[in-house]
Amino acid sequence: MATQQMVRSTAPGPTGHPVLGMAPAFRRDMLGTMLAGFGRYGDVVAYRFGPRWGPLTQRVVMAHHPDSIHEVFTTPRLYSRRTTAFQVLTELIGTGLLTSDGEVWLRQRRTLQPLFTPRRVAGYAELMTEEAARIADTSPVADGATVDLHELMQRYALRVVSRALFGHDVDEAVPRMQRLMPVLSDLALARTLQIVRAPLAWPTPRARRISRERAAQYAIVDGIIARHAERGAGDDMLSRLHSATDPETGQPLSTEEIRDQVLVFLLAGHETTAGALTFTLQELGRQPELQARVAGGDAELARAALLEGMRLYPPAYTTERLADVDATIAGYHVPAGTRVMLSAYVTHRHPEFWPDPERFDPSRFTGQHERPRYAYFPFGGGPRSCIGEHFAMLEGTILLRALLARYRVEALDERVRLAPMVTLRPAGEVRATLRVR
Ligand code: HEM
Repeated sequence: MATQQMVRSTAPGPTGHPVLGMAPAFRRDMLGTMLAGFGRYGDVVAYRFGPRWGPLTQRVVMAHHPDSIHEVFTTPRLYSRRTTAFQVLTELIGTGLLTSDGEVWLRQRRTLQPLFTPRRVAGYAELMTEEAARIADTSPVADGATVDLHELMQRYALRVVSRALFGHDVDEAVPRMQRLMPVLSDLALARTLQIVRAPLAWPTPRARRISRERAAQYAIVDGIIARHAERGAGDDMLSRLHSATDPETGQPLSTEEIRDQVLVFLLAGHETTAGALTFTLQELGRQPELQARVAGGDAELARAALLEGMRLYPPAYTTERLADVDATIAGYHVPAGTRVMLSAYVTHRHPEFWPDPERFDPSRFTGQHERPRYAYFPFGGGPRSCIGEHFAMLEGTILLRALLARYRVEALDERVRLAPMVTLRPAGEVRATLRVR
């Protein structure tokens, strides 16, 4: 425990632009700026966005050491979710499990947890296997065809999560959701990084665009929910959402809450998985021997490759909390009202825990390794960790094994250009040649 005397002043960090602080650097190259900050200042780095003083000043502290991450994730009494990024997400996708807070969140989490038990999730293995086979059977037009891995993986992940949710495929909605995702993501990020944010009710061009895209997204989801209702209850998550009740109070979810959960599962549940699979396949696509072992049925290696893919390219590459009261991180004073950012992208490259950090090496996740719990946190941690973790891992390993058993994947580019949006995505196509084994 840090005693009062041990508390050093504020954390060190770059000053950046005199008026805008580090906002331009983050906008230009967020990942590079965070890594450079870590390299230069170490485990705790303070960034300023906006002017040095005054009401527009925003202070952000980034904590990179696993011990600090542990503390931030597991002490919700000190660190809440009431941050800009989550506010902006709420404006875009409503108040589902990802964006709710306090009592509302607790009730929702209690109500939804039974939908994601390992037994329930195992029940989706069959549809995941069918969808993986569909991708493997139908993707390349001919042996040796070049595909966009990201497009394939988005299609797979969206079909899996929509079948799990609705009990059938929602093919007509898939391309529309796929088109909307980068637009929403772009809007969310632009709004998060804005120093002055007008309320959405003000008719700025961006606010109008957000309202329009949000309406389009709700229309898609409402349409799916209405058709589902006509068909009657089945063995799917949406039927379970309708009948789910809070185990403590017996209270069901409201119609609006159900829609917001559907949206969260659709969005949180496909972008992330698609990204993780794309990056993993790109890396395996440069390492034929490793790939051959996964193709040969080494299930532990498939899992390790996916974990290693998410180490280098964590789809949820940053998250943040708000210090609700004065706090201390690694001996530095963190005043109430500070945004505390955690970045899996940076900590997953911490040289103390990850030797030769840029090398893709799944053996880091096979066998036993001594490492602090929060040296690796692609699914977050503490009470608000990802509810879909088992679902995503099962879905991911099923796809890797099915696709690689069928094809040799040869990635055409040495590296993927990254686009840090709401999730970490490839900046464009991820080209690979598929050759029948
Ligand atoms: C590789 C795939 C995935 C990754 C990397 C991932 C990552 C994460 C992370 C890091 C968080 C915590 C965010 C924070 O603390 O700020 C989170 C929360 C969440 N994830 Fe995932 N996720 C994945 C797949 C899924 C899937 C498949 C679903 C649902 C079907 C899902 C639904 C959610 C929900 C609802 C939350 C909010 C939980 C809460 O606050 O109680 N995720 N995810």
